[in-house]
Amino acid sequence: MLKDKHIIVGITGGIAAFKTATLVRLLVKAGAEVQVVMTPNAREFITPVTLSTLSGRPVISEFFTANTGQWNSHVDLGLWADAMVVAPATASTIGKMANGVADNMLVTTYLSAKAPVFVAPAMDLDMMRHPSTVRNLELLRSYGNHIIEPAEGELASHLIGKGRMEEPENIVLVLDDFFARGQDLAGRRVVITAGPTVERIDPVRYISNFSSGKMGFALAEECAARGAQVTLVAGPVSLSTRHPAIERVDVESAEQMLQATLAAFGQADVAILCAAVADYRVDNVAQHKIKREGNEPPVLRLVPNPDIALATGQAKRPGQITVGFALETDNEQANALGKLQRKHLDMIVLNSLRDPQAGFQVDTNRVTIITADGRQTPYPLKNKREVAADVVDAIHQLILSQKNA
Ligand code: PMT
Repeated sequence: MLKDKHIIVGITGGIAAFKTATLVRLLVKAGAEVQVVMTPNAREFITPVTLSTLSGRPVISEFFTANTGQWNSHVDLGLWADAMVVAPATASTIGKMANGVADNMLVTTYLSAKAPVFVAPAMDLDMMRHPSTVRNLELLRSYGNHIIEPAEGELASHLIGKGRMEEPENIVLVLDDFFARGQDLAGRRVVITAGPTVERIDPVRYISNFSSGKMGFALAEECAARGAQVTLVAGPVSLSTRHPAIERVDVESAEQMLQATLAAFGQADVAILCAAVADYRVDNVAQHKIKREGNEPPVLRLVPNPDIALATGQAKRPGQITVGFALETDNEQANALGKLQRKHLDMIVLNSLRDPQAGFQVDTNRVTIITADGRQTPYPLKNKREVAADVVDAIHQLILSQKNA
């Protein structure tokens, strides 16, 4: 899968930098084009001559090439790359990447990169478990970066513990697997609903819920990264999307979300209904701001909103797949299964509001994927980007099983 892929290998100043020579050699052997970018400190651990010889390209380490004055454009590099791997990643570089401290070529390139970024930390065990490192790695994860966890073993300090950079062979496997999965939705169209809906009461007030859109946006990024054309129908959220394969349609109410979703579902292979849609809207929306005058509080008459999951489930043609989410507070499994059946879904992703690290707002989620044949697969707590990967893996399995049926 790595043939002709453009890979930036970022090297920082750690003893494990010597292993990166092997990483570069393996990537080139697998057919990738490799551009090495080193921090100034990394050159104390391994020479640019070794790396330029192995990669077949001059190594970049400064903003300007010393003898010619030529500017090395981090923006161009960021656009050129299909992936960036920072190995080894020291605590210092991880901190800079997490906080946008762009004082060297490697971090500026990272900030410009549109491609997926893989980070392979290497450091002493106490640095590894220091709260600042833990937090910075968590921040990198929350930006959608992939952390290649270090292994346990003897470290440069001769202490034993977690902090050894993952072996180059395994880093190549991670990349290979990423690109293999990257192709699996090529040619597919996916429509995804995300965020809350907003139902107006009067010109200044509304009914809504706490959905941030994070889960739905992570799904859109994941599907697009794996080759799908995505229509992301988003309720009012403060998130942005970067991927060119994502067409975003902003809506406000459930009725608008229904129209946009059905319009896209006609040409789609898959619908993922992740939005937290308000089940009711106000029937008698006031045209003017409701005043607090008089003794009688206003009465809001609620009427049911359309059920978008049900509507797509009913509109489904053979070969199309609909996936819902279930946000439950009690009797989770039974309720989710009931929704799966009532809404004609092929799969439902259960998350519980009883779990403080799951559901609305947070960057993590803990889900159980339930398929129409009753199979239930629980997953551990993960970052929403990783949860999205699990959900899309399960959708891909459904596509394959439909094809083979
Ligand atoms: O946005 P985040 O802050 O990241 O939070 C993510 C999330 C908690 C919103 C998400 O993971 C999630 O659970 N989304 C579904 C929330 C929900 O409305 O669940 P529900 O059990 O009420 O609805 C079941 C399914 O029917 C869902 O797929 C929902 O999108 C769909 N539905 C519900 C009502 C309605 N009128 N139309 C619908 O399409």
